[in-house]
Amino acid sequence: MQYSKFSEQFKSDSGILRLMQDLGEAVNQNTAMQMLGGGNPAAIPAVQQAFRVEMEKMLAAGRAFEDMIGNYDSPQGNHAFIDALATLLSQRFGWRVQPDNIAVTNGSQASFGILFNLFAGQFSPREFRKILFPMTPEYIGYADVGLGDQSIFTANKPLIERLDERTFKYRVDFARLNITDEIGAVCLSRPTNPSGNVVTDDEIGKLHQLTRAADVPLIIDGAYGLPFPGIVFTPATPLWDENIILCLSLSKLGLPGARTGIIVANPEVISQITRSNAIFTLSPGRFGPSLATRLLQNQQLLSLCAETIAPYYRARSRQAIALVHDLMADLPVRIHSSEGAIFLWLWLPELPISSETLYQRLKRRGVLVIAGQHFFPGLNQPWQHRHECLRVTYASEPSQLRRGVEIIATEARRAYSQRRG
Ligand SMILES: Cc1ncc(COP(=O)(O)O)c(C=O)c1O
Repeated sequence: MQYSKFSEQFKSDSGILRLMQDLGEAVNQNTAMQMLGGGNPAAIPAVQQAFRVEMEKMLAAGRAFEDMIGNYDSPQGNHAFIDALATLLSQRFGWRVQPDNIAVTNGSQASFGILFNLFAGQFSPREFRKILFPMTPEYIGYADVGLGDQSIFTANKPLIERLDERTFKYRVDFARLNITDEIGAVCLSRPTNPSGNVVTDDEIGKLHQLTRAADVPLIIDGAYGLPFPGIVFTPATPLWDENIILCLSLSKLGLPGARTGIIVANPEVISQITRSNAIFTLSPGRFGPSLATRLLQNQQLLSLCAETIAPYYRARSRQAIALVHDLMADLPVRIHSSEGAIFLWLWLPELPISSETLYQRLKRRGVLVIAGQHFFPGLNQPWQHRHECLRVTYASEPSQLRRGVEIIATEARRAYSQRRG
């Protein structure tokens, strides 16, 4: 068969494809793989129980279940869910959010596919704009969503601050941040996937000012962040106004199978999203919104985040850090300050092999992680650091994590000793 140029979009062996295939194969084949690669949230019993109860209530309540499966929602998304969310955001944070500030999508990956192509690409025959990531590493899933031949991304390197012998933190390098006419929007994940960094209130405030001055939107990817699922371990304030496009998701709350993304933005952006939903998907799925609406209305969702989800991941993060300190004590490994999300980002300075080779060796030994180089979308300059890092998920079973870190330590030790030998 012959395919159009559009098919070229899907030809390359993208990092996100490899990640999702690794994840899907291991889950479906139920192999003995140590799954430290994927972004699946942990199965937290109290959270799963809360969603089970919602489902049971739906099944017991007249025709609620039949309504959910039997009707399309409007292309903007489920009205009851949108109303409940608008009320919560305006009451809780004082944001001027009305229902016309919110749209639902089939997962925030789908939100980025639309948003990036709305704000970047060809604007006129002589004007091409890009999405700027003010700091990489950034989320692997952004890398391939741009339609067309030319890359729609550009990115900056961060400053690296050493917090102690074993810990570092990325900071936005404002001295090199330039929002030129070529930029259509600025985007960052907060907390950042993969590093677990939470860009500080001060940094986000500066980015907000700079984007307003340049008259481009600031897209904040809150897939792990605020107000939900709230997997944030440092003080951080959620921020929104009409220049900010806040992307949220129900996935990391524990509902990745429901494929529900949320966009909070000005009504003009929401209307673009609504139209694109209608054209590409008719309407977004109804399952996630139906499960979450009552939990938004009675504020149980935010309590679950604060009292169960955040403490759970904070404890898992501490365990994972202790494991790395313990099992890799003889290696020069450094960990990015774990401030949120569900990953440890390990930096192995001057690793004699690339992180890709290390990934391959680990996979052969039954450990799935993600090699660092995939997390630098838009960074068009060589940088050794990107070949020295690994992303390790700590949401997996504690026994898997220990076994996985043991094998990572063995393989890293082997790589370092080859250089010495
Ligand atoms: C930072 C970030 N943004 C967006 C997504 C996409 O999430 P979903 O499409 O499940 O809402 C992910 C998934 O792992 C993520 O890590």
